[in-house]
Amino acid sequence: MSYLSRKKGQSYLFEQVYDLLVQRIERREWKAHEKLPSIRQLALELQVHRLTVFKAFQQLKQQNKVYVKDKAGYYVQAGIAQEEYSDEPLVNAYPKQNLLSALQSAAVDYHLTQALIDPSLLPNQYFSDYVKKVFDLYPKVLSTYAPVEGDSELRDSLARYFTRTCRTYVSPEQLLITTGAQQAIHLIALSFLKPRDVVMLERPSYSAAIDTFRAQGAHIVTTDITESGYDMDALELTMKACRPRLFYMNPTFHNPTGAVVPADQRKRLVELAEQYRCLIIEDDTYPDIYFENKPVPPVYTFDTAESVVYIRSFSKYVSPGLRIAAVICPPVLMNVLVTAKSLADNGSPLLNQKIFLHYFESDRLQQHFDKLRIALQIRKEVMEEELSRTDWKWVSPGGGLNLWVQLPAEQDVNRLLASALERSVSFVPGSYFDSENRTSTHIRLSYSYLNETRLREGIRRLVEAGRIYN
Ligand SMILES: Cc1ncc(COP(=O)(O)O)c(C=O)c1O
Repeated sequence: MSYLSRKKGQSYLFEQVYDLLVQRIERREWKAHEKLPSIRQLALELQVHRLTVFKAFQQLKQQNKVYVKDKAGYYVQAGIAQEEYSDEPLVNAYPKQNLLSALQSAAVDYHLTQALIDPSLLPNQYFSDYVKKVFDLYPKVLSTYAPVEGDSELRDSLARYFTRTCRTYVSPEQLLITTGAQQAIHLIALSFLKPRDVVMLERPSYSAAIDTFRAQGAHIVTTDITESGYDMDALELTMKACRPRLFYMNPTFHNPTGAVVPADQRKRLVELAEQYRCLIIEDDTYPDIYFENKPVPPVYTFDTAESVVYIRSFSKYVSPGLRIAAVICPPVLMNVLVTAKSLADNGSPLLNQKIFLHYFESDRLQQHFDKLRIALQIRKEVMEEELSRTDWKWVSPGGGLNLWVQLPAEQDVNRLLASALERSVSFVPGSYFDSENRTSTHIRLSYSYLNETRLREGIRRLVEAGRIYN
C-alpha cells in the first residue's frame, strides 16, 4: 500500500497523485520544458498502480501543466507559476507523520505501547547526586555551549569505551554526540539523502525511522527480518536490483521483533555493502539489555571499508531525559554530519553530557545494568505467563523491551486496538512497523514500562478485549 490512499470523503487516488505532481512542479522540482519521470518510475516511487499515474498525467495535460512529445514522455509547460527559490530542498512535498508518537500519547492507564523503561527502575537518586557533583566540578557549565561534535571529555571517554568493546580503535574525532538516536537518524537522512534516493529498511522496522526516511522523500525498499536474521540471498538481490543509498538496520534486539542478526550474516553484510556501495546505518539502541547471553558484536566491528555508520543510544537504560547518543562515522562523512548537527541545534546541551559522563564512568552503571536486566527479564516472564493462556504466538526474545506477538489470522488488529483502548490498554499494531502499512496479524507489546502488577492487569484486559469482540 502507498502512503497515498483513498479514505472516505477524500479525493480519488489519481487526484492525489495529480496534486502531488502539481505541488512538485510549482516547487521547481522539474522546470519548464523538463521531462517528468516515467509513469513506471512514479508508480514505483509512490507505490500506486501505473494506471493511476497515467490518469494523473492525463489530468495534468488537460490542465495545460504538461505537454507530450511523441514517444518521449511528458514535459513541463512553460508559464506555470513556480516558486522563486528553486534550489530549496523539496522535502516539504513528502508526508510528515510520527505514527507511533500519536498512539503513545493516547490517554490510557495500561500503556503497552511504550518501549521505555519504567522510570522507577532508573537511578533517579544517583542522578540528583551527580547533578550536584557536576555543578561543583564545572561551575560555568550552564554559561557556555558544548562543541558541536560533543563535549571533548565525553568523546574521549566514549572513544576509549568503544575501542575496548568494539575490537577496533575508535578515535574521539570519529564521534559525534547527538540528542538521542532519533536525532542521529534524522541528521543522517538529511545529510546523505536526496528525494527519491532508495533506502533499504528491515521489514518490520522501527516506526519513527520509517517516518523519518519517508519525510525525506526516500523511496523505501525492504528486506525481511525474522528470528534467524535476514534471508541473505533475497537481501543481495534487492541490493543488486535497487542499489540503495542506505540500509538502515537495527540488528541487535531489533525493535519490534527482538531478533538478533547472527555474526556470519553481519560479516557478509559489510561485504555486500562495500560491493554495492551502500552505506549501512546500524542503530544499536538495546545491546546492553540482554537476559542470559551477551549479543554478538555490532555490524560496525566487522567493517573494514568504512561502510558503516554506527549509532549507539544511551537513552533507554541510562537516562531517557538526558537524550545522549553517539554516532561513529567514517571521517569522509563526518564533516557533513557535523554541519547538519550545527544547523539543527549547535550541539547537545553541555550539562546533560557532563552528567552522563560522570555516571557513565562510575561503578554505579554496572550495578544498575545488573539489576535492570533481572527486573526486565522478570517483567518479560510475567507478560509471557499471562499470554500463555491464549493461542497467540511469539518467539521469546533474549533481550530488548518488546514481545512481537502473532495473533490468530481471524483477529482483526484494528478492532482489537479499538476494543483494548476502551479498556484503557494500548499496544502497537504491527502495520506501524511496515513501511507500506500492510495489514499484519502481529502486535508489539512492551513489557518494560509497567510494573508486574499493572502488566498482569494490562494483559488480562487485552486478552479479554480479544475474546469479547471475537
Ligand atoms: C530502534 C530504535 N532506534 C532509536 C530509538 C530512539 O532512541 P533515542 O531515545 O535515543 O532517540 C528507539 C526508541 O524507541 C528505537 O527503538
